[in-house]
Amino acid sequence: MKLIVDDAATELSPRPGQCLRTALREAGHQGVKKGCDTGDCGACTVLLDGMPVHSCLTPAFRAEGSRVTTVRGLADADRLHPAQQAFLDHNAFQCGFCTPGMLVTVASLDQAQRQDLPRAMKGNICRCTGYRPIADAIASLDAPLPGPAARDPASPLPPAAQAVVTGTVPYTLDVPEAGILHLKLKRSPHAHARIVAIDASAAMAVPGVRLVLTHADAPARLYSSARHQRLTDSPDDTRILDEVVRHVGQRVAAVVADTLAAAEEGCERLHVEYALLPPVLTPEEALAPGAPIIHPKDAATARIEQPERNIIASVHEEHGDTEAAFASADIVREGSFRNQRMQHGHLETHASIAWVDENDVLTVRTSTQVPFLTREALCHVLALPRDKVRVFCERVGGGFGGKQEMLTEDIAALAALKLRRPVQIEFTREEQFIGATCRHAMRVRVKAGARRDGTLTAIALDILSDTGAYGNFGPAVMFHATNESIALYRAPNKKVDAVVVYTTTPPAGAFRGFGLGQVNFALEQVLDEIARGLGIDPIRFREINVIRPGDPMISTSLAVHDVEYGSYGLDQCLAHVRDALAVREEVPEEILHDPDWSQGEGVAAAMIDSAPPLGHAAQARVALTAEGYELIIGTAEFGNGSTTTHGQIAADALGTTPDRVRIRQSDTAILGHDTGAFGSTGTTIAGLATERAAQSLAARLRDEAARQTGTAPGEWSLTPDALVRGEMRLGLRDFAPLSAHGEVTGSPRSVCFNVHGFRIAVHRPTGELRILRSIHAADAGRVINGAQCRGQVEGGVAQGIGAALFEAIRLDGTGAVSNPNLRGYHLPRLGDLPRTEVFFADTYDRLGPMGAKSMSESPFNPVPAALANALADATGVRFRETPFSRDRIWRACSEAAGA
Ligand code: FES
Ligand code: FES
Repeated sequence: MKLIVDDAATELSPRPGQCLRTALREAGHQGVKKGCDTGDCGACTVLLDGMPVHSCLTPAFRAEGSRVTTVRGLADADRLHPAQQAFLDHNAFQCGFCTPGMLVTVASLDQAQRQDLPRAMKGNICRCTGYRPIADAIASLDAPLPGPAARDPASPLPPAAQAVVTGTVPYTLDVPEAGILHLKLKRSPHAHARIVAIDASAAMAVPGVRLVLTHADAPARLYSSARHQRLTDSPDDTRILDEVVRHVGQRVAAVVADTLAAAEEGCERLHVEYALLPPVLTPEEALAPGAPIIHPKDAATARIEQPERNIIASVHEEHGDTEAAFASADIVREGSFRNQRMQHGHLETHASIAWVDENDVLTVRTSTQVPFLTREALCHVLALPRDKVRVFCERVGGGFGGKQEMLTEDIAALAALKLRRPVQIEFTREEQFIGATCRHAMRVRVKAGARRDGTLTAIALDILSDTGAYGNFGPAVMFHATNESIALYRAPNKKVDAVVVYTTTPPAGAFRGFGLGQVNFALEQVLDEIARGLGIDPIRFREINVIRPGDPMISTSLAVHDVEYGSYGLDQCLAHVRDALAVREEVPEEILHDPDWSQGEGVAAAMIDSAPPLGHAAQARVALTAEGYELIIGTAEFGNGSTTTHGQIAADALGTTPDRVRIRQSDTAILGHDTGAFGSTGTTIAGLATERAAQSLAARLRDEAARQTGTAPGEWSLTPDALVRGEMRLGLRDFAPLSAHGEVTGSPRSVCFNVHGFRIAVHRPTGELRILRSIHAADAGRVINGAQCRGQVEGGVAQGIGAALFEAIRLDGTGAVSNPNLRGYHLPRLGDLPRTEVFFADTYDRLGPMGAKSMSESPFNPVPAALANALADATGVRFRETPFSRDRIWRACSEAAGA
């Protein structure tokens, strides 16, 4: 069929029933993205004869004779479209995966439509930004500046910015491979069953099917899909394909075929015979006497603490005497709280392509936060030497901890090794819900006591964490959850009882906050009740009780004591939120004058160590090149902005500008090791390695200049870059080739802080909640890139509001996810989120690169608790379970009113 795509006459040959998105992508229009198949995300938006459409819902044949515009067709030859320029000017993207679709929609809006953005942008989801910079970018289209926007030189754009807004930056599946095969997973319909037999004959008879893999083909070796620096941190309880399935949606078999359609048909024709085993759908059931054992005793070598009780790990620890402290306290408050399963919601789903190259090296291009740890895992599971495995990433379309797992690479690699052909796997959005990981659901009981003067004397936590069918990160999340949450407070008596158990439900894993958000939600509400019970302002109460430099950080024992006060800005954060809340905003008339509306305020505080414990290593290399410098770094870029800061850090050490630093990254073939971009370590750990490498190169340049000129190294005021540029007669040729290496282990670590405040209004008869003010203060050390750091805070806050108000993975009575799509799950849209005022403490960390600390993971943590505290203030009702959706608020208010 003939049509015009981006002003070029084009011929497409869509298959029957094929959507326009897939037809365009197969024809090389990779600016059109895939985030779902149900018209929910907007990543696939194109203009069809000038009208924005979700091309995943548009049959390809409908475009015959039409004019299709993708993001790549928006710009003129010599000038970006105003919307593209506005997105650059306002840093209106992070991972950038939503950006092509966003821009196409924005380009179609007229001025009137731009006045109602919640409506105009309701078809486009961004999981990273919290929408504020997107809204600002769109607003600027109606108030253009007379000249080019002035950019703060301290906040340079990401190196890939231009490619992101023009839709030309490649993600994992945006580089076509000739002769690629497609892998599809057959998934379990049962929560717990043993596979008795698999008959693959009908599947193999499907034209184009090349291979069926079952547990008989998979290595027996157990591993964990969770990726840490220390491979032993999670239990080895997983096989690539297992003969026992432990959750609805678990892999049963894989079908590899010439086309995705053939692979899907092959999956449908696989005949699997199961012997059903009893399901265990709640953590309470898992602990009940006589509960079915989910991972049998012979898996004890997998480091499962009590397999016969389904307990993977536990903590039972006490400092001081909590019972005595409660007995003598003037006030004691306690409560039991529940946090729900959440999806990461990164718009690019899990995907990878594996092949064996001409040197017999297994090569995997994948969407991961941890390429080096994925290589280690592949070597372990497939029994391959390190030099026979290469893992690398293109730009990654969001992660939030979800891509700290090996969920696609192993099966694609196994198929590629068997077939010696490139094999691609891409999760559907539904598979993200049923076959990827989620946030740990936790039941958290908190008891706390204080003296009349507001001094906290004791805190006790009792936690039951549900890790689902596999133990990915279960122990680590539990340890982290019980650590900084209580270390934040000076109370001398602390007790923790925490247990993490298996259930036959979809597995949990790493998620932004790594367990702290769940405990913070409970603890900060109980502390709020104490403050209110004593009549002390909640911020003042925290000022009385939070740790200060010199205080011991008492928490559960992690057997590592390498956390130091590299800097301290919590006092400033508390002051920022207090001052901002003191400024009264304009409240809408209908709220002011309607007695059915109640207003309330709430705050919560959080602390996080600046890196994970027990090691987080990174290497970096900086070399002189003809064009400037080359920085090689292991960390992947998935919207966290670390690549930009790495360039800034290297440029600062060399006395040059970031545009002279070319960056290569996230490829096991170009560097020795990098633990990965998680736990907010991109800036603090890999950034420190970068700083060391760049400083080392700068020193070598100075030494070499001194040697050549017979002077002492410190005699000139010229920067290393000025030497290279020949400002002292010496130039590039006198130094080349020169390079330097930097390396860090991630210890010692510093502490970072976040405080959030809300003012809200609640319409009690309907449960409507409006956020009037959202204020966040962060102690990130020296802020290296203000625009990006603000973006990380806003994105974290947005996810925290999603956790508090909307998002929940729901399981039905069989253990299956009943809302496996973005719409049913309710990922927040532009109209769902407020604008957050962001403040940074003015601190300089003596441990971090350029004085910086971490700040991507932690802004999430205090948000649900602060919102719950505001709700309690407004309604008098304590909301102990997230999400407190509108119906729950309505019900609780109605019950409180006796209706
Ligand atoms: S890919 Fe079309 S709306 Fe998500
Ligand atoms: S930048 Fe919008 S989804 Fe990542």
